Amino acid sequence: MAERESRRDNKAMDGRWSLLGTTALVTGGTKGIGHAIVEELARFGAAVHTCARNEVELEKCLQRWGAMQLKVTGSVCDVSSPTEREKLMERVKSIFNGKLNILVNNAGTAIWKPATEQTPEDYKFVMSTNLRLPST
Ligand SMILES: NC(=O)c1ccc[n+]([C@@H]2O[C@H](COP(=O)([O-])OP(=O)(O)OC[C@H]3O[C@@H](n4cnc5c(N)ncnc54)[C@H](OP(=O)(O)O)[C@@H]3O)[C@@H](O)[C@H]2O)c1
Repeated sequence: MAERESRRDNKAMDGRWSLLGTTALVTGGTKGIGHAIVEELARFGAAVHTCARNEVELEKCLQRWGAMQLKVTGSVCDVSSPTEREKLMERVKSIFNGKLNILVNNAGTAIWKPATEQTPEDYKFVMSTNLRLPST
């Protein structure tokens, strides 16, 4: 009886947290936090699209997720480039038929050196990656 109750509770939790039928874009999903977010969202049933600059690593991740039966697609994209961001959004729009439920602006960067040594190019690169993408 208690076991049946517990099974029913688990079922309710599964339903409560299901993301089946939803779509998500997670930038920078081939490593670290983004990688974990992609897998978690996909495990809950979301169709996920991700991107990264390194094509070899992206392909490796896509193969892994395919083998796990997770619904994940990917694009090579440098989010610091406005042109590449446009292309990414076009691809996402086409794959998800214009519907995006979840956006995780995870890709980000930092240049670790003293502030006095940061160049205008460093500043532009960091701002473009960390601030421009989320706002466009
Ligand atoms: N880890 C921490 O302790 C920490 C603390 C505070 C904030 N954060 C923030 O959390 C986010 C993830 O951190 P993390 O430690 O998981 O990073 P990470 O392990 O270095 O992974 C970064 C991911 O983003 C991708 N990426 C980086 N720059 C990109 C770009 N310009 N365009 C597209 N993809 C890009 C990387 O792939 P490619 O290199 O192939 O592009 C990779 O998949 C970052 O925004 C970071 O600033 C992290």
